[in-house]
Amino acid sequence: MQSIIEIKQLSYRYEKDIVLENINITVPDGSFLAIVGPNGSGKSTLLKLILGLLKLQKGEILLFGQEISKFKDRQKIGYVSQKANSFNTGFPATVFEVVASGLTKKLGLFTFFKKEHAKKVNEALDAVGMKGFTNRNIGELSGGQQQRVFIARALVSEPKLLILDEPTVGVDAENVNSFYQMLGDLNKRRAITLLLVTHDIGTISEKVTHVACLNKHLHFHGETHEFEQLNSDGLSKVYGHDIHLLAHHHDHGGL
Ligand SMILES: Nc1ncnc2c1ncn2[C@@H]1O[C@H](COP(=O)(O)OP(=O)(O)OP(=O)(O)O)[C@@H](O)[C@H]1O
Ligand SMILES: [Mg+2]
Repeated sequence: MQSIIEIKQLSYRYEKDIVLENINITVPDGSFLAIVGPNGSGKSTLLKLILGLLKLQKGEILLFGQEISKFKDRQKIGYVSQKANSFNTGFPATVFEVVASGLTKKLGLFTFFKKEHAKKVNEALDAVGMKGFTNRNIGELSGGQQQRVFIARALVSEPKLLILDEPTVGVDAENVNSFYQMLGDLNKRRAITLLLVTHDIGTISEKVTHVACLNKHLHFHGETHEFEQLNSDGLSKVYGHDIHLLAHHHDHGGL
């Protein structure tokens, strides 16, 4: 099985501060990886390096088997940034237009829309459970609904890999589950490899196949069942508190 992402001995610093040190991560095709870690642990930095938004300083990143500096097939990767949900709600665009703007990468800005493009937009909205919202103004939607629309925008160019930075910020507890259900469906039914930064490790452990715990160093990287079997001492060092207690509290209503 081909790896979608391979990160080897990666380190990164902003001026003097080293924020990532000797990171090794492999993301197999079809997997669903959750990256967890406290605030400031380098999660978004790692995503930006994978996306080529930050320049590689030390180590290697392979995307679809190719060195990142040579990788040109950007439309294979969809991305929803951590700040997508602080969207200006006064912005006069319909849901359709927001999702369609995800096609301009492929089409160029001044290409006329064809029926097949509209079909793609509708399919993407369907995939995130937002089919009935096509003509609504983006500003009228709730935070969680907007997040789904931004995911549709990332999906419309049919990526093989979808990268999401804390997509459930602004999604209330009640809707978080159905949100992750939707991501699980994208992973399983559409065979999209998912890379997700999240703090909701308890809620998602049933959906993800792999977990990586980051805090400048990679403290754990493996399959979800290995993560669940981990000795909690190791992980409390990452988080400063027992993440397992947190996870079990969510899953089983306490220990
Ligand atoms: N552009 C920047 N210039 C200098 N330092 C930065 C920059 N961006 C991030 N940092 C620092 O790098 C460290 C890692 O930041 P990063 O955004 O990757 O953390 P994070 O794990 O995504 O945190 P959060 O959970 O709060 O989103 C932090 O200490 C942050 O202050
Ligand atoms: Mg971040």
